[in-house]
Amino acid sequence: MYLPHIVKLAIFAAHACFAANSTYFNPVLPGWHSDPSIVYVDGTFYAATSTFLVYPGIPIYTSPDLIHWKLTSHVWTRASQLPNAGRDVAIQQGGFFAPTLRHKDGVFYVINVYLGGPSLANGSLLGTIYNTTNIVNSSAWSDPVYFNSPSIDPDLFWDDDGKVYVHTAGIKQQEIDLTTGKVSNPISVWNGTGGSNPEGPHMYKKDGWYYLMIAEGGTELGHRETIARSRHVSGPFVSNPSNPLVTNSNTSEYFQTVGHADLVFDGKDWWGLALSTRSGPEWEIYPMGRETVLFPVSWEEGKWPVATQVRGIMDGWELPPYGPFVSGPGPFNNDPDVVDFAPGSSLPPQFVTWRYPEDDVFAISEDGHPNTLRIRPSRANLTGIPGSTTQPALTGQSGISFIGRRQVHTLFTYSVDLEFKPQDLDQEAGISVLLTQLNHIDLGIALSRNTSQSDHPSQLEIRLRTEGSGTPNGTVPSSLQTFALPESCNAGGDIRLEVTAINSTTYMLSVKPANNANEKVVIGYVSALVVSGGSGPFTGTLLGVYATCNGGKGSGNECSSSGGNAYFSRWRYQGAAEQYSFTEFLPSTYGM
Ligand SMILES: *[C@@H]1O[C@H](CO)[C@@H](O)[C@H](O)[C@H]1NC(C)=O
Ligand SMILES: *[C@@H]1O[C@H](CO)[C@@H](O)[C@H](O)[C@H]1NC(C)=O
Ligand SMILES: *[C@@H]1O[C@H](CO)[C@@H](O)[C@H](O)[C@H]1NC(C)=O
Ligand SMILES: *[C@@H]1O[C@H](CO)[C@@H](O)[C@H](O)[C@H]1NC(C)=O
Ligand SMILES: *[C@@H]1O[C@H](CO)[C@@H](O)[C@H](O)[C@H]1NC(C)=O
Ligand SMILES: *[C@@H]1O[C@H](CO)[C@@H](O)[C@H](O)[C@H]1NC(C)=O
Ligand SMILES: *[C@@H]1O[C@H](CO)[C@@H](O)[C@H](O)[C@H]1NC(C)=O
Ligand SMILES: *[C@@H]1O[C@H](CO)[C@@H](O)[C@H](O)[C@H]1NC(C)=O
Ligand SMILES: *[C@@H]1O[C@H](CO)[C@@H](O)[C@H](O)[C@H]1NC(C)=O
Ligand SMILES: *[C@@H]1O[C@H](CO)[C@@H](O)[C@H](O)[C@H]1NC(C)=O
Repeated sequence: MYLPHIVKLAIFAAHACFAANSTYFNPVLPGWHSDPSIVYVDGTFYAATSTFLVYPGIPIYTSPDLIHWKLTSHVWTRASQLPNAGRDVAIQQGGFFAPTLRHKDGVFYVINVYLGGPSLANGSLLGTIYNTTNIVNSSAWSDPVYFNSPSIDPDLFWDDDGKVYVHTAGIKQQEIDLTTGKVSNPISVWNGTGGSNPEGPHMYKKDGWYYLMIAEGGTELGHRETIARSRHVSGPFVSNPSNPLVTNSNTSEYFQTVGHADLVFDGKDWWGLALSTRSGPEWEIYPMGRETVLFPVSWEEGKWPVATQVRGIMDGWELPPYGPFVSGPGPFNNDPDVVDFAPGSSLPPQFVTWRYPEDDVFAISEDGHPNTLRIRPSRANLTGIPGSTTQPALTGQSGISFIGRRQVHTLFTYSVDLEFKPQDLDQEAGISVLLTQLNHIDLGIALSRNTSQSDHPSQLEIRLRTEGSGTPNGTVPSSLQTFALPESCNAGGDIRLEVTAINSTTYMLSVKPANNANEKVVIGYVSALVVSGGSGPFTGTLLGVYATCNGGKGSGNECSSSGGNAYFSRWRYQGAAEQYSFTEFLPSTYGM
């Protein structure tokens, strides 16, 4: 049959339109960014992720184009927002579980449950809802409205009739009054398609259908995202015959554990964010834990959504343009750190502590120590002092003196300069690659006795420690190696402590005099297996600094001996490359 010229043109035009599809790379938020939730408001995408015990909690990132993400604010920044939050939590993966971020009538909301904190009498979990009209300002996030949550992963959904619903793992539905937190009795609305742990629900209304999207199969290799729909808000929900919507379970993909997704419409096309780990199906070494990936979604009117499988290199809808967008003071996620702790400056917003910090642990440019970060030591060391009934233990109720930032590149170098004049034995300061208190790698300087000399003089030594006790069955051995300070560092000047990921599975730890970078001495190589999974299956690796007196003299968590303060300066983090397949790497500038 003869094809009229005009139809050919239309096909050409349609083709030209498809040709505008974009190519991009995952993860879009590399490093520990688990359980992403996303909204699009007036030209800006906003995403929130889970932070468990880490303070400040629940970062908000913003982006104009879904690729470049800038840290904008944190939802939890004040002790008064959740009294005792963090301090009373013993479990390493407690705290702020998966948030949902939503926007309604000019107000942003974050809803989540807090695990291990103040508990509710009848066994419900502590549900919290925060709001703000000024999302670029961390201080503007409200105190929470509390609600009794039957389970984790609450979602917020506003129906057209003004009613507001919370869905939680299970999958349970409750109506909620956002100003009082009063909830109706939970009802079961969907059990998923048979995978374990139906959780992470989100509800969307489109073309007269209520869509209920959830994660199933657990957050490990069986993770998947499924969806159901109903004409009525409370069901019955009918499962998508093409479920799962998206998964990499039972594949040999480099990106695994894909699930816990949220969908967003950019005015033209649909997209999804999900969590994923880069590790291949062996799923053994993945120090950055659960990261955030982006996938295109086709969602025709009245039809089921169709998602594109998650890979390192993606083809999909034309990405929104990079243009002006709402943002805050934080850096882009992939930016290097060049932090000199100048007098009058504050701690950078990308810095985090393990639990809410004690007062006055950190000070910038203290008198006599310009351009330094002073850390007052905690009696608890990074591991705590397990088994002790009198000394701070893993509950770390008063906090450990540690501050870090996420590892966000497969290959990177992180270094700081340390000025440390310990006067008592076992005072120690250094850098750590930390997943949890039970899975970390430390390079420290400590005062110790040299028992191989007859008068046992005290002297500085280097400690290289791997703490793997959080890994099941002791498959990652803990160890402590000590070394004499290299000759070049003995002059008493600052010592540069450095960790480099030499490849995706190995960290190299080294020291050098801060004033002579050519004198580098490699102290050791440690497998990233130490900081993969174990006691931190939900979290990801932080790179940071610590000071401790290792349970020495003092009371509570305060060391009493003088000399234990550590002064860190010239904090540098520089990405080198991001791995996006078993064999391919991107330059570190992608996404900056
Ligand atoms: C828990 O108790 C509160 C108030 O006492 C009540 O509102 C809520 O429905 C209860 N939750 C459950 C799951 O029973
Ligand atoms: C941020 O919010 C706080 C609390 O509402 C307010 O006091 C402060 O002025 C705000 N800062 C800016 C820069 O808007
Ligand atoms: C925001 O949170 C505050 C403090 O909890 C609460 O009083 C207020 O009603 C909330 N606003 C909205 C719009 O939910
Ligand atoms: C989900 O499973 C529970 C337990 O078997 C059952 O009580 C509930 O009715 C189920 N919910 C739905 C919506 O089928
Ligand atoms: C993967 O395979 C297992 C075993 O056949 C099956 O139980 C599971 O449902 C599959 N996962 C997905 C997401 O289909
Ligand atoms: C463009 O991307 C969409 C969403 O992934 C996909 O459905 C479509 O097939 C793509 N078009 C081309 C020409 O690749
Ligand atoms: C730990 O040991 C238990 C019991 O022998 C076994 O079931 C489990 O698979 C082991 N876990 C690992 C990670 O080796
Ligand atoms: C202890 O002293 C001996 C003898 O001087 C020396 O060889 C060794 O390196 C010292 N050990 C440490 C940890 O400094
Ligand atoms: C990384 O380097 C270590 C030490 O050289 C080596 O044992 C390991 O096989 C390397 N791993 C990869 C993934 O290249
Ligand atoms: C913590 O301190 C205790 C008590 O001094 C010590 O036994 C343990 O090895 C230390 N652990 C770490 C990780 O520093």
